[in-house]
Amino acid sequence: MPRIRTVAIVLGGALAAVAVVRHTQGQAGLETPGGIVMGDAAAYDSLSRVLLGPFYRSVAADVAAAAPIGGRVLDVGCGPGHLADRLARDHDLEVTGLDLDSSMIERARANAARSVAAERRPTFVVGGVAALPFPDDSFDLVVSTLSMHHWADATAGLAEIGRVLRPGGRALIWDIRPGVVPFHRHRPDPLDSVAGPFIRLESAGPWRWPGRLALTQRIELTPADREAAPAAT
Ligand SMILES: C[S@@+](CC[C@H](N)C(=O)[O-])C[C@H]1O[C@@H](n2cnc3c(N)ncnc32)[C@H](O)[C@@H]1O
Repeated sequence: MPRIRTVAIVLGGALAAVAVVRHTQGQAGLETPGGIVMGDAAAYDSLSRVLLGPFYRSVAADVAAAAPIGGRVLDVGCGPGHLADRLARDHDLEVTGLDLDSSMIERARANAARSVAAERRPTFVVGGVAALPFPDDSFDLVVSTLSMHHWADATAGLAEIGRVLRPGGRALIWDIRPGVVPFHRHRPDPLDSVAGPFIRLESAGPWRWPGRLALTQRIELTPADREAAPAAT
C-alpha cells in the first residue's frame, strides 16, 4: 500500500510539474519587453497553490535555514506570492515580493491579506528584475522560483540582484533544469546568464521536485565586492 501511495505522489507531482511548466511555456505566457508574464494570473494562482505546495514548503525551509533571524528577503518574480507568504508567516522573515505583472501583484496582495497577519505581511511591488526599485545593500537574501527562465535579460537581472544584496548576503534561485522537461528543451540554461563582475556563482545542483525527480535546479550566488568591480557606464 505505501508503495502505491509513493507512486501516486510521484506521478501526481510529475503531472503537476508538467502542467505548471506547460503553463509557463508560452501556451499561456505573454512576451513583454521585460520578460514573459503569465497570460492568466488567476489560473496560475489556483494551479500553483494546489500543485506547488510541497515545492514551496521545501524551498521555504531551505531559505529560512540560510537567512538571519528576521532577515530581509526579496522574492523576484514572486507571482501570486505563495512562497513569500510562507516565508513571512512560517519563518518570520521580512519579505518583499516583486513581479513584472501587475495582475500577479494584485493577487499576491489579496492572498497575503487572507493568510498572513498584518504585522508580518509581505510588501508586494510591481517591477522588473533588470531595474530593481531598491537601494544598494537592501536585502540579506534574494530568492526566486521558476521565474529566471522568463527574464528577458537574465545577466542584467543578476547584476541588479548583486547590487541590492548586502555584502555577505546571497541569492538562492530555483529554476527549471534544461534538458529534463521535453517541451522545455529550447530554453537556455539559467547558468549561462551568470556572467559579469557583480555576482559570483557559489554552487548549482539538481533540486528534488517533484518527489524523487529533479526537474529544477538550485543556484546559489553571492554579490561580488563592488569596490573591486568596474563602475557601470
Ligand atoms: C512561472 S511564474 C513563477 C511565480 C512564482 N515565483 C512561483 O514560484 O509560483 C514566473 C513569474 O515571473 C515573473 N517575471 C517574468 N519576467 C520577470 C522579470 N523580468 N522581472 C520580474 N518578474 C518577472 C512573471 O510575471 C511570473 O509571475
